[in-house]
Amino acid sequence: MVQTDLIPRAILDIGEVNDLDILLERILTHVRRFFNADAGSIYLVENNVLNIRYTQNETLRNRLGPDRKLVYTTFSLPIDDRSIAGYVAANGRSLNIPDVHQLDDSLPYHFNGEPDRISAYKTSSMLTVAITNQQAKVIGVMQIINARAGTGEIIPFTTADESQMNLFAVSAALAVERAQLTRNVIMRLVSMAEMRDPNETGPHINRVAAYAVEIYEQYSWNRSRPREEIEKQKDLLRIAAMLHDVGKIGISDLILKKPARLTADEYEIMKMHAILGARIFHQPQSEFETMAAEVALTHHEKWDGSGYPGDIVRQPGFFSMKAANRGLKGEQIPLSGRIVALADVYDALTSPRCYKEIWKEDRVLTEIKNNSGTHFDPEVTKAFFTRLDVIKSLAERFPDTANGPPLLIDP
Ligand code: C2E
Ligand code: SIN
Ligand code: SIN
Ligand code: FE
Ligand code: FE
Repeated sequence: MVQTDLIPRAILDIGEVNDLDILLERILTHVRRFFNADAGSIYLVENNVLNIRYTQNETLRNRLGPDRKLVYTTFSLPIDDRSIAGYVAANGRSLNIPDVHQLDDSLPYHFNGEPDRISAYKTSSMLTVAITNQQAKVIGVMQIINARAGTGEIIPFTTADESQMNLFAVSAALAVERAQLTRNVIMRLVSMAEMRDPNETGPHINRVAAYAVEIYEQYSWNRSRPREEIEKQKDLLRIAAMLHDVGKIGISDLILKKPARLTADEYEIMKMHAILGARIFHQPQSEFETMAAEVALTHHEKWDGSGYPGDIVRQPGFFSMKAANRGLKGEQIPLSGRIVALADVYDALTSPRCYKEIWKEDRVLTEIKNNSGTHFDPEVTKAFFTRLDVIKSLAERFPDTANGPPLLIDP
């Protein structure tokens, strides 16, 4: 039975999230809490299919042990009557199924038991609702699985639960559309640099940002930081990390597009992108802009002080174009910069670059290990390796090719 007293706070909370991925995670966490539900998924309608964007499963997560996280699942469903989520998206109405294993054969939709078989999990009760915007367009689907009574026993969702969820979906739709708008504006901003720099692609930006969030979360768990603080910082960091190289917009094409190694002089000019990026966010108007400036400025600093641009001259509203001789060192470098440094190098080495070959995974991981304590903060490196399986599952979510995610059932 839904705990209605939790809903008003959840509505306020999701209204404060800026980043789309962080928002979807937060929505799912809230709806599971309403019903003390064991599991759930959230899908978005993208390119006329339903893409799974977030899954939680307490039982499977607990099997991993403490402080571990499930890897991301990437698949899509056609928007038609054959799957449960597809049916809800196609028809814009919710489905409340007491037991997915007792569905009448005459129904158009069927439960796909394959994911359960693979993970040795048993889905029983399932409530699936459409996220519909004010133009009556379905933009996504929320699916909550295995509601639990206070005793822990799995119970069906009630009719009242279904109504409450449909109401909550109205607030969720508003928050999702706002976060999609923010995401699109940022991707377009980044694409101005991308049009010129063949290395700065949409998928690269999304991967670096998504990896940074995972590393930050694990680092913070390792330090038992307060959960509320982690949630807030994750949201700021996700967007700030997307903008780490936005300063490349001010670097000449001759250098950005050079299909060979840079000369020393060219590299000196290239290094200005850190300062140029920070200047875009000078006189920050929000915590998000403050972090965006911080990340742009410090993502090429190194733990041992051999990075750039170092302690630059700051005048009111203006950053000097002249970098210091010496880089920032250790904890002088903001955590956000230390984290994005690793996320950026990991992605640069595992992706094609116009000036060099792609590296094999072993070589990339050895390089990162060897540079822990010199280039990278050892604690950040540790968090990265703890989350490596999750980070690799994110790479599948943002592939360089235009192909969408694999379809779970044939189109
Ligand atoms: P990027 O390609 O996104 O690379 C980001 C960072 O990944 C680099 O920062 C560097 O720390 C690391 N990285 C990239 N490739 C390698 C590599 O082959 N080995 C190692 N150990 N690390 C690597 P960095 O050096 O400050 O470069 C910043 C940006 O400057 C690069 O961003 C890229 O856009 C450009 N760049 C750097 N070197 C070259 C080059 O030789 N040719 C061209 N055309 N561009 C370069
Ligand atoms: C669905 O059929 O709605 C979801 C697919 C699944 O997880 O089984
Ligand atoms: C934090 O320290 O919790 C946020 C990241 C930063 O300081 O840049
Ligand atoms: Fe950079
Ligand atoms: Fe980059």
